[in-house]
Amino acid sequence: MWVTDENERFELTRPVFFIGFMGAGKSSVARRLARVCGVGSVDADVYLERREGKRIKRIFEEMGEEGFRAIETDVLRELSEKPPLLISCGGGIVMRPENRDILKSSGFVVHLEVDVDEARGRISDVSTRPLFQDVEAARALAANRLPLYTEVADVSISTAGRRVPAIAYEVRGILEKEGVLCPQQK
Ligand code: S3P
Repeated sequence: MWVTDENERFELTRPVFFIGFMGAGKSSVARRLARVCGVGSVDADVYLERREGKRIKRIFEEMGEEGFRAIETDVLRELSEKPPLLISCGGGIVMRPENRDILKSSGFVVHLEVDVDEARGRISDVSTRPLFQDVEAARALAANRLPLYTEVADVSISTAGRRVPAIAYEVRGILEKEGVLCPQQK
């Protein structure tokens, strides 16, 4: 379904932030799009873990959620200032008002919508997600966050029952139409 000219390369005019609840497919979609379009992508949580030299689970244990959130803001700012990338954000990135300001002011924000039960099925090792230990609690958290995701999103895309290539294809179309993803000038 995805016809690409191997030599066709794209560039981003602004950073693109993928937001949404845990298990929405933010990292997989960003990675797929990066591969097909030849642009750079980064998973903000992986970047954060490398920067801190610790797993997120351990950061939560040692510093609590507030400690993690402070580092997360720092990382978001750092990544938003780099040459434009596809950036998959942790699910709680919208919790802090200053993060919402960074997202809205510095890039294009794609919200991947997911239902908590489907999200749970997509996460193979839930022990790496300190805030997804209990499905009922996750349901409440997702409901609380929904207005925040909607507030910052330039576009919201349903991922229900869909696979990564189809979602990435839809995102690509939107980014091209919005002038965020452009064919590279030869
Ligand atoms: C979190 C989501 C995680 C990670 C951390 C907190 C959250 O990222 O940042 O465990 O608060 O929803 P993913 O959304 O990539 O799983």
